[in-house]
Amino acid sequence: MGAAAVADLIGLGAEVHVIDLKAPASEVASHQAIDLRDPQAVGEAVERIGAPVDALFNCAGLAGPPFTGLDVMLVNFAAARHLTGLVVPLMAAGSAVVSVSSAGAYGWEQSIGQVEGLVATPGYVEAREWCEEHPEVVGEGYLLSKQAVALWTMHAAIDLAPHGIRVNCTSPGPTDTPMMPSFESYMGKEFMDRFPKPLGRNSTPEEQAHVLVFLNSSAASYMTGSNVYVDGGFSAGMLTGRLDFSLLAGGAPVGA
Ligand SMILES: NC(=O)c1ccc[n+]([C@@H]2O[C@H](COP(=O)([O-])OP(=O)(O)OC[C@H]3O[C@@H](n4cnc5c(N)ncnc54)[C@H](O)[C@@H]3O)[C@@H](O)[C@H]2O)c1
Repeated sequence: MGAAAVADLIGLGAEVHVIDLKAPASEVASHQAIDLRDPQAVGEAVERIGAPVDALFNCAGLAGPPFTGLDVMLVNFAAARHLTGLVVPLMAAGSAVVSVSSAGAYGWEQSIGQVEGLVATPGYVEAREWCEEHPEVVGEGYLLSKQAVALWTMHAAIDLAPHGIRVNCTSPGPTDTPMMPSFESYMGKEFMDRFPKPLGRNSTPEEQAHVLVFLNSSAASYMTGSNVYVDGGFSAGMLTGRLDFSLLAGGAPVGA
């Protein structure tokens, strides 16, 4: 999704700086192969990029095993929040941040209590400590990390609104990116195939990237604190009761 967003942004004439272990396919202004789990290295990378930054895209992520729940939490939530904290001082009013949660975390509001303590931690080190102290809540890490991104997005939106900086996130449904084989191997290919998709197919990375770019553009200037489901109708089906997620486990057809 990040790679597709880079392609969109270059097409729009943006100066794009990438922090990712993997080198981008597109020609960018700079690429730093930094491990986002190293907060000091991330700080140095941001310093090398320098001000001004108009838009931040938190797209890096891990799906789960073979990575530990802690690693998944650190990359998907703690590092994204840490990076945002470092970049925001380089932003002027009118800038924006977008992060990627997941449609898999749909309904997270019902279990907000389990993630509030984590989101209330002040920084990367404290978030790491919280995860180490709550291994039973963290589990494989993916769902909790995506719940945390959704809740933190709302807090950050309120915190940064007085500065004119907008903060949103997307919640993608299954998307054919290099991450998909990881989901298929740890959740099961059948599970991923049967994940309810009213549009009848997985998303492309480009379909996710276009929404990320929109949210960080002036076309979305009145949007902040939004969690935009880019899920082929999954959340609509869940909210209306037209889809029964529990059928995923049972093997009966999903969708109505
Ligand atoms: N693919 C899906 O079905 C799906 C669905 C919902 C949400 N998401 C989320 O979308 C986001 C984008 O994932 P994607 O599907 O494009 O997968 P992807 O594997 O193509 O991209 C993830 C990127 O994160 C980078 N990364 C991972 N760990 C890193 C680290 N420690 N330091 C630096 N970079 C690191 C990887 O190098 C990779 O380029 C992720 O947050 C993912 O959780 C994906």
